[in-house]
Amino acid sequence: MLTTTEIRAELAARRKDYSLSRDLYCDEGVFQTDLTEIFYREWLFAIPACEIPKSGNYATLQVGAYPVVITRGADGMIRAFHNVCRHRGQRLCSKPSGSSVKLVCPYHQWTYDLDGKLIWARDMQEDFDPSKHGLKKVHCVDIGGMVFICLADVPPAIADLAKTLGTYLAPSGLKEAKVAHSSTIIEKGNWKLVIENNRECYHCGGSHPSLCRTYSDNPRMTAMEGPDSASPDILDHWKRCEAAGLPSRFVNHPQMQWRLARIPLLNNAESYTMSTKAAVKGMRMGQMPFNDAGSLLFFHYPNTWNHFLPDHAIVFRVLPISPTETEVTTKWLVPADAVEGKDYDLKDLTEVWINTNDEDRQVVEENQKGILSPAYEPGPYSTIQEEGVIQFVDWYCGTMAERLGPTAQAAE
Ligand code: FES
Ligand SMILES: [Fe+2]
Repeated sequence: MLTTTEIRAELAARRKDYSLSRDLYCDEGVFQTDLTEIFYREWLFAIPACEIPKSGNYATLQVGAYPVVITRGADGMIRAFHNVCRHRGQRLCSKPSGSSVKLVCPYHQWTYDLDGKLIWARDMQEDFDPSKHGLKKVHCVDIGGMVFICLADVPPAIADLAKTLGTYLAPSGLKEAKVAHSSTIIEKGNWKLVIENNRECYHCGGSHPSLCRTYSDNPRMTAMEGPDSASPDILDHWKRCEAAGLPSRFVNHPQMQWRLARIPLLNNAESYTMSTKAAVKGMRMGQMPFNDAGSLLFFHYPNTWNHFLPDHAIVFRVLPISPTETEVTTKWLVPADAVEGKDYDLKDLTEVWINTNDEDRQVVEENQKGILSPAYEPGPYSTIQEEGVIQFVDWYCGTMAERLGPTAQAAE
């Protein structure tokens, strides 16, 4: 298990534009440091707000050692709390989601309001002060229907992302959507391999026959450099979409922690379906103006990538479980009034990304197996095909190096 000093040295010794060292992908010390320096400090995508549409709805998730519960209060507000009872620490809500007017601890029935206040504790002594035993808050923000949480005492600034993402997501009407399907899979690979794999389509032609019907594996599609710098077909797409009120141009965080851009699908495809036609018939998300608006791509490190289409949206959440295990949750959102079996067929809606996720799981698991071999050594990324991976790895190494401080030699 690597010490902090050794992790610093591994980061300092990395070769630019090469994959990381074996330890950075599978060492327990690195994993714990990834949790403390990244996952416990950054804003993380948790759930789509429409997953908890009514007062009393809640959803839970596990971020490293922290169980978290997200509630919708009687006032309609979404809040997040540590999912830990203030009596003797029982996990309050054990189900992935549910609905309850109050949060009742299953151990001794201490009862909390949906805003975290302790409202009932049986047979506690005179001097017990319930106001000092409310649930501990987790920072939580709903941006355009995507709920982000942050476990840090002082979270990083999110105003720029909130403004831009809110504007880009507005036409997609996520708040008036519902979750049509949810899938959670465990990939036996480090979380960074999961993100790396998502950030390139070098593997798509060989791995994703169903996705490649509609999604171009041409790196020009995602290797955009700025709001006015992209291939002519993408610039045309942005102009057409923006004329119809859809913010579409490439926009990014200065250190590439996040990026938004709307890309056309292949051959005027409408959606990620086997037929290439919209999965949801006769209606669109929010104010989407036409069926061939393509996909609004949004990623935010360390834990989410997303596709917002005219007829549905697909949101992805990545949570590390161990050095070599990662949970990937995918949710398909459709307009709230769409009726399964009438307006959409569930298989038609989900087939392409269920296949794609499973194909990605296989490549990530095989990638991890190879990296576990003592014979593994970091290999060169393609600067033509894997620019996105290089950006992610640079973000990761830069963030970690900054947080862990300079190496002993560099500091001397
Ligand atoms: S631990 Fe929750 S009521 Fe006792
Ligand atoms: Fe893939």
